[in-house]
Amino acid sequence: MNLNAPAYVKNPKLIAWVSEMAALCKPDTVYWCDGSQEEYDRLCQQLVDAGTFKKLNPAKRPNSFLACSDPSDVARVEDRTYICSEKKENAGPTNNWMAPADMRATLQPLFDGCMKGRTMYVVPFSMGPLGSPIAHVGIELSDSAYVAVNQRIMTRMGKAVYDVIGTDGAFVPCVHTVGAPLQAGQKDVTWPCNKTKYIVHYPETREIWSYGSGYGGNALLGKKCFALRIASNMGRDQGWLAEHMLILGVTNPQGKKYHVAAAFPSACGKTNFSMLVPPEGFAGWNVTTIGDDIAWIKPSADGKLHAINPEAGYFGVAPGTNFHTNPNCMASLDKNVIFTNVALTDEGDVWWEGMEKDTGSLPDHLIDWQGKDWTPQIAKETGAKAAHPNARFTVTATNNPALDPAWDDAAGVVIDAFIFGGRRSTTVPLVTEARTWTEGVYMAATMGSETTAAAAGQQGVVRRDPFAMLPFMGYNMSDYFQHWLNMGDKLKATGAKLPAIYCVNWFRKGDDGKFVWPGYGENMRVLKWMIDRIEGQVKGKDNVFGVSPTYEEINWTGLNFTAEQFKTVTSIDKAAWVQELKLHEELFTQLAYHLPSEMTATKAAIEQRLEA
Ligand code: OXD
Ligand code: MN
Repeated sequence: MNLNAPAYVKNPKLIAWVSEMAALCKPDTVYWCDGSQEEYDRLCQQLVDAGTFKKLNPAKRPNSFLACSDPSDVARVEDRTYICSEKKENAGPTNNWMAPADMRATLQPLFDGCMKGRTMYVVPFSMGPLGSPIAHVGIELSDSAYVAVNQRIMTRMGKAVYDVIGTDGAFVPCVHTVGAPLQAGQKDVTWPCNKTKYIVHYPETREIWSYGSGYGGNALLGKKCFALRIASNMGRDQGWLAEHMLILGVTNPQGKKYHVAAAFPSACGKTNFSMLVPPEGFAGWNVTTIGDDIAWIKPSADGKLHAINPEAGYFGVAPGTNFHTNPNCMASLDKNVIFTNVALTDEGDVWWEGMEKDTGSLPDHLIDWQGKDWTPQIAKETGAKAAHPNARFTVTATNNPALDPAWDDAAGVVIDAFIFGGRRSTTVPLVTEARTWTEGVYMAATMGSETTAAAAGQQGVVRRDPFAMLPFMGYNMSDYFQHWLNMGDKLKATGAKLPAIYCVNWFRKGDDGKFVWPGYGENMRVLKWMIDRIEGQVKGKDNVFGVSPTYEEINWTGLNFTAEQFKTVTSIDKAAWVQELKLHEELFTQLAYHLPSEMTATKAAIEQRLEA
């Protein structure tokens, strides 16, 4: 078939691969995205004409669209996600695995003709600033125009990527299909997808194959598939880190700036934390966003860790976002946004649960994410949500009023501290500093969190989520712990000061079942304590697994939070910790193959302190 490759595509390997994939997938046409505004507008209009997009009222949300997915295609599908390494042990016990040859044999017939009646979009993208030594490029082939326009927001997408690849540069090949070929004359649906889904990674050959879903991380392959699962493999082999972390800058009133990278499981408020607005009592403090979801971190020769955000936009959870929880995010969403699975108002604007906190009341009428009428009465009677709990916005980082001036800096920013946090209603205290790198790796490795809607499956149960990477780890989890320990040794060998490591939990609940810690902007109080620790200005006190603040060490100006409440969020319940350590033991049993001995030794030390 005619590939129509533009003259500026000069990489024979790339052209041969596109040709091979076109022969397999059999699209009607191949379209090479150039990343221009004109192209974006044209594809969005095409999506409007197809009924996939609804254009929102330009007076309310200029140049913005709403897409509503098929009700069966609303989240990442972890049980359909595979790491197909040559050896099963290299995928490890936390990943689904199939031998690459078997998976290729499974996918071959599914991909054969999968794009019939559709266009194959060739989407060139850079994860990270174009040409940055920390960045890497990928090419996504997709039969979804929705993917093409989302990728233009989420990545540095366009023609310039071909200059980076040149005639023989490397790229990560990513193939995506919704798995819904059209017969001649067959009318398309507004959200094509397939009941059968496969999200497949071949770590050795650094390939991604995605079948059957058009949603989020299943389809926007630069994000979880490349920037975490494949990149974690690249990082292990090349000596760097690919992490499920936000990156923020925090500047004190004297103008000194720190950079923090923080890992939280999906839908635990990473976007909110990365855009934090300091509360009353923090005049002169400023928080700026480098990234809200993923960090690529490379050590330099002097032992400093340089981090970039490989993404260029935010694909965030809309429900719960409002002017109280995240004013910067709300400001980011005022124009040029793609919304997916939120509700439509009678004025042609969008709405999701949580917005009533801003307006003081629920709207009288909406069209919910499934196209049905929604009223407060219906919601009361049936519990129907207007927006799907995993409804999303896709928006460019440059819409964010708190965007850090260095967010696009090719050299990245130097990390001063890591934070690891889960959603735990009990047991884990508000904040604890690791006394050593190893203790920090232990904290991260044993992190647990109550599950949320970002992945399909049961919600509200605690699952171990090491480094918040459980769904995103591209190789054996224990080897990844070892990689972190090795990184610590490598940094120590340079004589550099290592980043501090903290474990936080914003989600402790009181006897009444309500959150005790106010969270959101108030998390600045914890952030400042961390900085005070880095500067050696506060001593903290030892607990069984690290160092935590005293009540007096936190700045309480502007917040009425009593010593009693502080105790509720920081207390260590010995009996609960004995239980907790049993769960760590369970995790270590699961991860026994290649588990670093430092992990069991650290656990034994905590047990001893608990007994003392
Ligand atoms: C995300 C996730 O979409 O973690 O960022 O699920
Ligand atoms: Mn995420």
